[in-house]
Amino acid sequence: MLQSSKTSSFPTIQEIWEQCRPDLLKVEAQIQKDLVSDVPLINQVAQYILNSGGKRIRPLLMVLSSKLCPSPGEDHILLAAIVEYIHTATLLHDDVIDEGNLRRGKKTVRTLWGNHASILVGDYLYAAAVARGLTLNRQEVNLVLQKACCQMIEGEMVQHAHNSDFGIQEADYLRIIQQKTASLIAVSCQLGGIVSGGSHEQKECLFQFGQNLGIAFQVADDTLDYNAQKQRLGKTLGADLREGKVTLPLIHLLRNCSQEDKERVTRTFGLNDSSEKEFSQVLELMYRHGSIEYAFSMAREYIEKAKGFLTPFEPSVHKTALQVVADYVVSRDH
Ligand code: IPE
Ligand code: IPE
Ligand code: MG
Ligand code: MG
Repeated sequence: MLQSSKTSSFPTIQEIWEQCRPDLLKVEAQIQKDLVSDVPLINQVAQYILNSGGKRIRPLLMVLSSKLCPSPGEDHILLAAIVEYIHTATLLHDDVIDEGNLRRGKKTVRTLWGNHASILVGDYLYAAAVARGLTLNRQEVNLVLQKACCQMIEGEMVQHAHNSDFGIQEADYLRIIQQKTASLIAVSCQLGGIVSGGSHEQKECLFQFGQNLGIAFQVADDTLDYNAQKQRLGKTLGADLREGKVTLPLIHLLRNCSQEDKERVTRTFGLNDSSEKEFSQVLELMYRHGSIEYAFSMAREYIEKAKGFLTPFEPSVHKTALQVVADYVVSRDH
């Protein structure tokens, strides 16, 4: 683990992954250990998605958050595995909802085994996460996890209600992504504080840090959906546009382009068979109107806000590491 001596130099994100490796390896072992269904297909499908190359950003945030508080023990290992199970369950369900064919550069579970397997294994991972969480016998942990799970589902539902809604406001979009994405990232940080003897203020600051970082994370994800390199992203570019999901770059574009362009974009939009050429035209308009830059700069603002919530913590290598992870969230390419 990181040495806790004070330092002012900034490590790279790769160095942070490397330094947290001992804890993250324990998280991996915990993830594998809990895949013990009597139905081999459940284990096979769960192993496929769990070992398909996820970034493990939530476990990383939990490990680092726990080290910021007075008495880190081992409970964050189990909780990091639980949070990764919940995250994986949401991806299995999300790919059914979004009809996603590619994730982490590989075929999605629903493409290989069908929607039913994707939904059921997602349910299984949710249930396994709950079962493991209950073994800690800590009401505060249970409540925090339960609240985040409900918020994620609420966010997905509200997003669905806004499908193909060209008039969606930025505030509505921000509320949706706070619920569907930032809530789990926020509790990944907060739980690190809860199991490591953090004070009320420390736990609240970690929650707020994670919440703002989580909003930036989804804004970056939605921007990458337009302008990432496909090989690096490992997901289908332009998926949001084709799915009828109106995200920040598009909200900005529709607010700023001419009526004629707006009509052209909204005609393209939601057509499942919209061509590469039509997608390029929308992207071109986004560059012209500064929509990509607008979204990235908003993500950077949320990152700065997130970092502000680390102020009450004493300088340490773990605090520096969290600041570096925060910057990585908006500079990543996948
Ligand atoms: C993907 O999350 C879903 C979003 C919240 C945008 P991640 O980008 O953390 O997914 P993996 O686990 O690294 O693939
Ligand atoms: C993230 O939303 C999914 C959840 C938080 C449940 P997206 O639909 O944008 O995620 P990707 O792009 O498919 O990973
Ligand atoms: Mg999706
Ligand atoms: Mg997306």
